[in-house]
Order: sequence, then structure tokens, then C-alpha cells
Amino acid sequence: MQNLKEFNFKGKKVVIRTDYDVPLNQDGEIVDDYRIKASLPTIEYLQSQGVKEIYLVAHLGRPVLRPREKFSNIQAGNVRLGLGAVALRLKELLNIDSESLNTKEIKPLGIPAYIITRGVYLLENIRFDWRETDNNGELGRQLAQLGDYYIYDAFAVAHRTHASTAAAIKEARVALPGLQLLSEIDHLDQLKTEIKHPFVCVLGGAKAKSKIPVMQELIDSVDTFLLGGVIANTFLKAEGVDVKRSTVELAEVKESADLIKQAPQKFVLPEDYTWQSGKIMDIGQKARQNFKQKIHDAKTIFWNGTVGVTSLNAQDFKFGSEEVARAIATNQQALKIISGGDTVGFVNEIGLNLHQFSFVSTGGGATLKYLAGEKLPAMEELKRK
Ligand code: 3PG
Repeated sequence: MQNLKEFNFKGKKVVIRTDYDVPLNQDGEIVDDYRIKASLPTIEYLQSQGVKEIYLVAHLGRPVLRPREKFSNIQAGNVRLGLGAVALRLKELLNIDSESLNTKEIKPLGIPAYIITRGVYLLENIRFDWRETDNNGELGRQLAQLGDYYIYDAFAVAHRTHASTAAAIKEARVALPGLQLLSEIDHLDQLKTEIKHPFVCVLGGAKAKSKIPVMQELIDSVDTFLLGGVIANTFLKAEGVDVKRSTVELAEVKESADLIKQAPQKFVLPEDYTWQSGKIMDIGQKARQNFKQKIHDAKTIFWNGTVGVTSLNAQDFKFGSEEVARAIATNQQALKIISGGDTVGFVNEIGLNLHQFSFVSTGGGATLKYLAGEKLPAMEELKRK
């Protein structure tokens, strides 16, 4: 992939595909802005190089779509997924001294854009255009033609084959990776090439299906997998433990059993749990001690997914995840990479500083796929340019 620092941006128009898919609360307020912050290095670099116009393209959530429906109708049916709150936050982060938010229509797309400041525009949620998720070539061309350069900086959505993540790169005269994308690759590659042992991988949350391929890919280099959440329930079930009414991904039980058989000594399942109504809600006290010890001794750590139920208000099920987070944050010797919206949101919720981790990946599914060795469509398109 090419390096954007080798190009001249003075007086040029640039399109940047960023990931602003941020978590929102009931009132539509941004709960966590780390993805917005992650877009700043590329924007500020281009500004420092005298770029004339920047068009930011991003999505938020998964709008309900009707094929061939007008952008404005889909927008009206998905009001909560507008990028207005993101635009305001971006203005703040760029130190733009005005709280007003105006829009202008971007021709020929017919898509409104928020005016962040003179020469910087954020297009409204690109998924309000039904052509986006279809990887429509016409939309890709229209996006690419807004600028002299198409800069792809949305690592978190690089695993989707959409118009702004695939077709636009193909259609662009020059397509380049953004600084966040390069940083993601640099850091995630360290988990494959610069491993210091013990390498501890903490996996929790749901979606065992997306985490099993990562374990398969990393099983030779990882010393210990610490498992919590639904993924642990699934592995416990595979080991014949009675998990009662706990959530289990039944389709993954066989693969989990096969994986453990490959290297039983590498899998640490919780030895005790916190229950509620027949369901495992958190790892127990002994498991917390054991997990903390392993994390304390580690020299490389990857963490994705909380080890208990953290989405409820109840504090009782957050002890495991909090102790894991603090143990990782305070380990001073390890390379520490964390990823996943819920994990990063939780770290913020308990008041830890993201600087206490070596790298916070903006990706969830994309990070897991990358670590599992899968090809990501956006990156494949970038390599082909
Ligand atoms: C994410 O939140 O992981 C990315 O923005 C991708 O979103 P998606 O799963 O809706 O495609």
C-alpha cells in the first residue's frame, strides 16, 4: 500500500472514508468518541499540507433500507442514525469555535453534508443511500469523483464490501490508506510478528463464531487464552460442564471442543462463576484471581470482549471485567492491545485512560477477521491500486 505522506495535497480535494459508527445513548448522545478521535490525525495532517477541501464519508448503525428509495426518505425513517451529533463532536475536537451546524447539498450525489468548517464537510450517514451496502459502482464513482484522492481510513468497516469501502477505492484515480488504517495494521501485526511470551489472549463477550477463527490462527503463538462471557459458556458446554440456562452458541460447541483438544493446556476457563436465575453472569472470585495472575505475568496481551454481563446497570456482574481491565492497564511490561466497542466502552465507563493501553483498535469484527488472517475487502482494493 502507498504512503499518503509521499503525495502533494496542496490545493487538492480529498475524500476520507472514516468510521464514525459510535455508540449512542437513549437521548442520541455519543457515549464514546474514540473512533472520532482516531480520525483526527489524517484530517489534521491533510490540513497541515494545505488541502483545499475534505469530504468525510461515514456510516452510523444499520438503517432500515428500502431498495431504490430516496436518500431523504430513508433518512426520515432513521432519524436517530443521523450524523449530526458526530459532526458537532468533530467540530469540538478540531477546536472550531462555533456551535452552529449548517448543511449543504453535495452535488451530484444529492446527499446533504454537515459543514464542519470552511472546506471540511461530513456527508450524512452514507448508509441512508441504499446503494452503499450493495457496493454500487455508480455510488462508488460519485464518491471517488468528489476528490483528487480517496483516502481510506475506516479500518473498522474494512471487512464490508460496500460502495464506500470497495467500489469507491476501485473507481478512485488515487486511493490511499489513511494514518489510522496504517496504525491499525502496524499494531495488529505486532501480535503476529513481535510476540514476547507469555502471550495472553483474553476473549469474552458474545459471537464465539467470530472469535474461534482468531484462536485457530493464533493457537501456536498464544500461551494462554482466558475465556469469559458467552464464549466461555460455549467452551464450558464443550467440556461437558452443566451451564444450566446460560447463553451458549450451540453451533460452535463442536469447534470449541476440537480447539481445546489441540492444546488443552492453553485454555483457561473460569473455575467459578456468578449466577443469576440459572445463568452465568460473570466469572467468579477464584477465576478473577487466576485471570489477574496470568495477565500480570504476560508480556503480550490482546483483549476483546468483556468477561461478564456489562450491558445491564447491575454492578454485580462487572467485577470480572473490571479486574481484567485494571490488571491489563497496570501491567507495565506488556504490549497491550484491546479492541471491540463494548470492551473499549467499558474501559471508559470505569474511568481508565485509554493511554494505559499500547493500542486501542477501532475495529470490532474487522480486527477479529484481520487477526484470523482473513482478507479485508477494503484493504485488498487498496493493495490492487
Ligand atoms: C463496527 O461498528 O464494527 C463497524 O462500524 C462496522 O459496522 P457494521 O457491522 O454495521 O457493518
